[in-house]
Amino acid sequence: MSSPLADKNIVLGVTGSIAAYKVADWVRALKRDGARVTVILSKGGARFMSPLTFAALSGNHVYDDMFAITAAEKIPHIELAKQCDLLLVAPASAGSIARMAQGLADDLLSTVALATEAPVMLCPAMNSKMYLHPATQTNIARLEEYGYKVIKPEVGAMACGDEGPGRLPEWHVARNAIFSTFVPQDLAGRSVLITAGPTWEPLDPVRFLSNRSSGKMGYALAAAASQRGAKVTLVTGPTALPLPSGVNSIQITTAQEMYDEVINRYEGIDVVVKAAAVSDFRPDSQSTQKLKKSSTTANTLTLQANPDILHTLGERKGKCHYPLLVGFAAESENHIEEGRRKLREKNLDLMVVNDITGTDCGFGVDTNRVTMLDYNDTTEELPLLSKEETAHRVWDRAVRLLNG
Ligand code: PMT
Repeated sequence: MSSPLADKNIVLGVTGSIAAYKVADWVRALKRDGARVTVILSKGGARFMSPLTFAALSGNHVYDDMFAITAAEKIPHIELAKQCDLLLVAPASAGSIARMAQGLADDLLSTVALATEAPVMLCPAMNSKMYLHPATQTNIARLEEYGYKVIKPEVGAMACGDEGPGRLPEWHVARNAIFSTFVPQDLAGRSVLITAGPTWEPLDPVRFLSNRSSGKMGYALAAAASQRGAKVTLVTGPTALPLPSGVNSIQITTAQEMYDEVINRYEGIDVVVKAAAVSDFRPDSQSTQKLKKSSTTANTLTLQANPDILHTLGERKGKCHYPLLVGFAAESENHIEEGRRKLREKNLDLMVVNDITGTDCGFGVDTNRVTMLDYNDTTEELPLLSKEETAHRVWDRAVRLLNG
């Protein structure tokens, strides 16, 4: 699977909100994901941004007038409505939302919204009082009844100085929602639990034992599962990544905390994916004071084993395949043998082995090269892919196993 947006026609309606400048970057990002972007600039939108900016970024003609016909036989609102795979209105001003909710056809964007059979997604962005006004809320509810997907605005400081809901969501939030329009909803109704990132095992208030996991692989799995309709719980060690949207995230620090959270939450879960790099050991004791160079404990570190979370789940699962258990292993040698050993010893259904000998896979980077091994002794080697694509391929396989 390449990008779900490859060759998709996204019609982007930009309306009159100060957040219009932010979506200039969204056009570039959509194109990077392989989409073709055509911008409709409302009258209000054109007061904030010039058509030239969007023409340059999209590489396409920008439509700002319903009656400016470019080719004699082409009627813009019908052509745009027909060719569009998704109508994305971002930012969606209070006025544009009201127009669409009333079914008005008094400008190009509202007319395309009426004429299209493609999904419509709105990202409201406006002053928080305008957003919370019952008129706007009623209009949004009506559009949701029509099947429009409305992404809630973020809460924070507005350009006018007010605080509250009304900020355009971050791109990664919108992107996740856009992707869910185009990926199979084969995890709908399923609950999945994913672990990500490293654990930190404190030695004293300033030092800890850890590893190089950035959390990218686990977060990609969480985002992909959410796009595919799953209810996602993410138990994450410390990372520098933004928490994926639409996911119930639980932040932990140590392996013991990860163990407690996973064991307390796994009942009723359909699939557990353990992409976290859990520290196998922790210091025997943790000093409440910073250890001094001169202290003997600073020279000799005694360790004790952390509980093996996946092993515990495998033991409890016994002979059945419920929940489906997916492990990850980062290996630098004999990776298939090591992966098979861990699959067996931990009683897993699927083991995803990272070959970490290259600089473009495993820890920290945006790409990965993995081999999937399952309990049926099948081996599937994937090429070098983005972690996002790897995540979707892992879910493809997990869904097949889930469906027997
Ligand atoms: O976070 P990134 O920078 O994107 O990097 C991704 C990754 C390389 C960390 C990830 O893809 C990965 O491979 N994670 C597993 C790392 C590993 O080597 O795990 P392991 O071989 O120690 O453990 C095997 C499995 O048992 C793993 O699923 C692990 O989560 C689990 N485990 C391990 C120890 C423990 N105490 N409890 C566990 O549940």
